[in-house]
Amino acid sequence: MNWTGKDMKELGIEGVSSLVEENEMLRQEVRVAREAGEITAQLVVSQFEQTEEALQRLHIANAQRQAVFDAASQMSIIATDEKGMIIFFNTGAKNLLGYSEAEVVGKMTPLPFHLESELVERGRELSEELGRPVSGLDVFFVSALQGRPNTREWTYVKRDGTQFLVEMSITAVRGPDAAITGVLCAAMDITARKQTEEELRGYQEHLEDLVEERTSDLEAANKKLVREIAERKRMFEQLQQTQQELVQKERLASVGQLAAGVAHEINNPLGTILLFADAMRKETSEGDQKREDLKTIIDETIRCKNIVSGLLNFARQQEVLAQEVDLHALIEEVIQQLQVRREFEGVSIVREFSPSLSSIQADPGQLKQVFVNLLDNAADAMDGRGTITITTRAMDRRQVEINISDTGRGIPEENLSRLFTPFFTTKPMGKGTGLGLSIVYGIIKVHRGQISVHSQVGQGTTFTVTLPMRYSAGPSSREETPSSLIG
Ligand SMILES: Nc1ncnc2c1ncn2[C@@H]1O[C@H](COP(=O)(O)OP(=O)(O)OP(=O)(O)O)[C@@H](O)[C@H]1O
Ligand SMILES: [Mg+2]
Repeated sequence: MNWTGKDMKELGIEGVSSLVEENEMLRQEVRVAREAGEITAQLVVSQFEQTEEALQRLHIANAQRQAVFDAASQMSIIATDEKGMIIFFNTGAKNLLGYSEAEVVGKMTPLPFHLESELVERGRELSEELGRPVSGLDVFFVSALQGRPNTREWTYVKRDGTQFLVEMSITAVRGPDAAITGVLCAAMDITARKQTEEELRGYQEHLEDLVEERTSDLEAANKKLVREIAERKRMFEQLQQTQQELVQKERLASVGQLAAGVAHEINNPLGTILLFADAMRKETSEGDQKREDLKTIIDETIRCKNIVSGLLNFARQQEVLAQEVDLHALIEEVIQQLQVRREFEGVSIVREFSPSLSSIQADPGQLKQVFVNLLDNAADAMDGRGTITITTRAMDRRQVEINISDTGRGIPEENLSRLFTPFFTTKPMGKGTGLGLSIVYGIIKVHRGQISVHSQVGQGTTFTVTLPMRYSAGPSSREETPSSLIG
C-alpha cells in the first residue's frame, strides 16, 4: 500500500503507528508468502518432472504395445472408442483389409469390414438372447460385454471388395472406472486353414469311398469265393459219384463178359445133363432110391440153369430195344404176374400213380425185369407179409421218378454200398444169386437213368428209379467202359 503525505496528516500519530504495525505485518506476510512461493514453485517443478517421467514411461509402453500389435502382422487388431470409431489399426489389419491407417483411424467404424447379412444374423441371435433389439455397432459392444469367449467365424470384406474368412474375438476395453471405453477386435485369416480342412474332408471322404468300394469289392469276392467253393464241392461230389459208377460199370462189364462166356459154355452141358437125368428118372419105378437121387440131380441142374439164365440176362442187358411204353400198364402187368406167387400172398400193393404221367421210351422187357427184381426183393425183405407202395411222378417234362417202398427188415448201413455188386446176396445158399440188383443197375444205366436207395433197419426200404422220358442211345455201353473213357 502506497501512502501520500496528505494521507498521513489526516491520519494523525495514532493512525501512523497503526499503519507502521500494519506495514510490519504486511512485510511479514510478504516474507511468508515469498517463502511459500518458493516452496510451491519447487513442488510444481517436481510434479512437472514426475509427470514428464510418467509421460516418458507411457510413451515407451505405447510404443511397445504398437510394436507388439504390429509384430502380429498376420492378425488384424482393431480398437474403437466407446462410439465405435476406430482408434487403432495395426499392420495386420492394414495387410488383411487393404486400408491405410490414415484412412480409418478417427474416420470410420469397423462396420464396412463386415457383410451386412452376417451383422443382421448375429444381431438377430443376440436380440433373441437378450430380449431387446441389437443391431449395427451394438453387435460388437454386446458381444464384447457378454464376458465369455466369443470367438467365431466372420467374413471380412477387403477394400477391393474381396471376401475372406476370419476367426475373430471381440474384447471390451475398460477405463480406470471399469466403464467400457471401446472394443478390441482381433481377427485371424483362416482361409488357408479352411482350405486345408476342406482338402482333409475331401480326402477323408475319398478314403471313406475307397474303403466302401474295397469293402464291397471284398464282399463280392467273398460271395464269389463261397459260390466257387460250393461249386467245387458239388463237382467233387459229382466226380466221386461218377467214379463210383465207373467202378461199378467196370465190374459189371467184366462180370458180363465172363458171364456170357461161362453161360454159353455151361448152358449146353446143363441141357444134356437135364435131358439124360430126366430120361433116367422116367426109367426108374416109384419108391426107388435112384429115382429120388435123380430128382435131386434134376432140381440142382434146373437151379444151375436158372443161374446161367440170370448170367445171360446180365450179359445181354446192354442191348436196348426202346419203344413207347405205358409205364403204369407195364408195372400193373408185373404185379399181376407176381401176385399169384406164394411169396406175395400176404403182401398188399398200394399204387400211387401220377395221372399226368403218359408213356415213356424204354425197353419193355428190361423194364419188367427191373420191377420184377425190385418187387421180389421187397416181398423177400418182408417175409411175405407187409405193404409195398409204388409211386410214380413226372419230375419235369423230361424225367419220371418211380419209388418202390416196402415195410421190410431194411438194409444195414454196411451193406448199402455193396447192393449193386454182382453176386452180393444175404439170402441163404441156393435162394439167391445176388445178380438181381446188378442187373437192375445195368438196365437203368443203359437207359441213362439213376437208381438210389434209402433204408432204415427194421423200418423198411425205398428204391428210387429215375428214367428219361425220351430214350437216347448215346455212346454204346462198350464205349462207356472206364478204360475207353480214360484213354
Ligand atoms: N427191399 C430190400 N429190403 C432189404 N434188403 C434188400 C432189399 N433189396 C435187396 N436187398 C438186399 O440186397 C441183396 C442183393 O439183392 P439182389 O437182388 O441183388 O440179390 P438177391 O435178391 O439176394 O438174389 P437174386 O436177386 O438173385 O434172387 C439181397 O440179398 C438183400 O440182402
Ligand atoms: Mg433179388
